Amino acid sequence: MIPQSDKARRKIVVVGAGAVGSTTAYTLFLRERATELVLIDVNMDKAKGDALDMNHGLPFVGQTSIRASGYEECADADIVIVTAGAAQRPGETRTDLLKRNLAIFDEILTNVMASGSEAILLIATNPVDLMTQYSQRVTGWPAHRVIGSGTLLDSARFRYRISRELGVDPRSVHASIIGEHGDSEVPVWSLANVAGMPVSLPEERKKEVFVDTRDAAYEIIAAKGATYYAIALALDRICAAILNNEGSVLNVSAKLDGQYGLNDVYAGVPCVVDRTGVRSILELPLQPEELEGLRRSAEKLTNLARETFP
Ligand code: NAI
Ligand code: 2OP
Repeated sequence: MIPQSDKARRKIVVVGAGAVGSTTAYTLFLRERATELVLIDVNMDKAKGDALDMNHGLPFVGQTSIRASGYEECADADIVIVTAGAAQRPGETRTDLLKRNLAIFDEILTNVMASGSEAILLIATNPVDLMTQYSQRVTGWPAHRVIGSGTLLDSARFRYRISRELGVDPRSVHASIIGEHGDSEVPVWSLANVAGMPVSLPEERKKEVFVDTRDAAYEIIAAKGATYYAIALALDRICAAILNNEGSVLNVSAKLDGQYGLNDVYAGVPCVVDRTGVRSILELPLQPEELEGLRRSAEKLTNLARETFP
């Protein structure tokens, strides 16, 4: 259990007040997830404008203190969410962003560390698994305290898409996407279920459901330039699991340490998330082709990490 005093005061810092950061802050605000919400961005005017705009909503919501400020605010934060950096333009993959975002992260991580923060670092910037791995490497913080949003969003898309096939509430669909948050991700069809009953769809429907899931971001980016609502809800869900010490099972990006025969690589897998961050990583009983897919996805991430930040 969290001590009462910790429950009363909850502080979240959001670095990056772009489409993802500001929508995440707004979602956290609407759900009264924190008592203090801080926005940081190189574009200080944007962060200030967002904070002021949300403050004007306080009469309708609650008592969150929202402000734009600097990295010193990370010192006593419970969670620092990083959404800053370059986003995909139409036609780009997430991994195309790697080099650009590493340089941005050098600056951000230096500032977060200088604050003396002991927060949980929650990364959303893409390519999220590699940015999270890099963040853990640079900070030297324990891996359980450095988490990526991983395949939580992809799993939500998968559950939504399956729910449309079956005509049931997406919340009643239990299904996982694992591996890279990106093109090499893997659907775990063998364990997908509704009320414990396997999801039985013809193979060609399954293929379509997975392709829609995997390529959803491309479709949204082509249509409106960015994705932000669902990722904001996913980040809020992770914050709730941390702040409420829930022990919820969420497909976040965590550092694998022997699970699935993989080491020293961050990838999206089901994890128990609580006040400590990732309390444990669950090892799903995968079918051989699913395990092979996960290993291939992890190999892609490992190779990119070796090439870019050896
Ligand atoms: P955006 O371009 O709207 O916002 C990025 C923000 O970062 C801007 O406000 C910019 O001023 C700020 N920024 C840039 N350099 C900075 C620095 N050194 N310090 C502080 N702030 C800095 O981009 P958007 O759409 O918000 O996407 C942000 C990231 O989130 C991208 O990498 C995108 O690919 C990723 N993303 C990840 C998702 C996931 O599932 N993990 C889902 C959606 C987006
Ligand atoms: C998404 O999946 C672009 O990674 C982002 O929405």
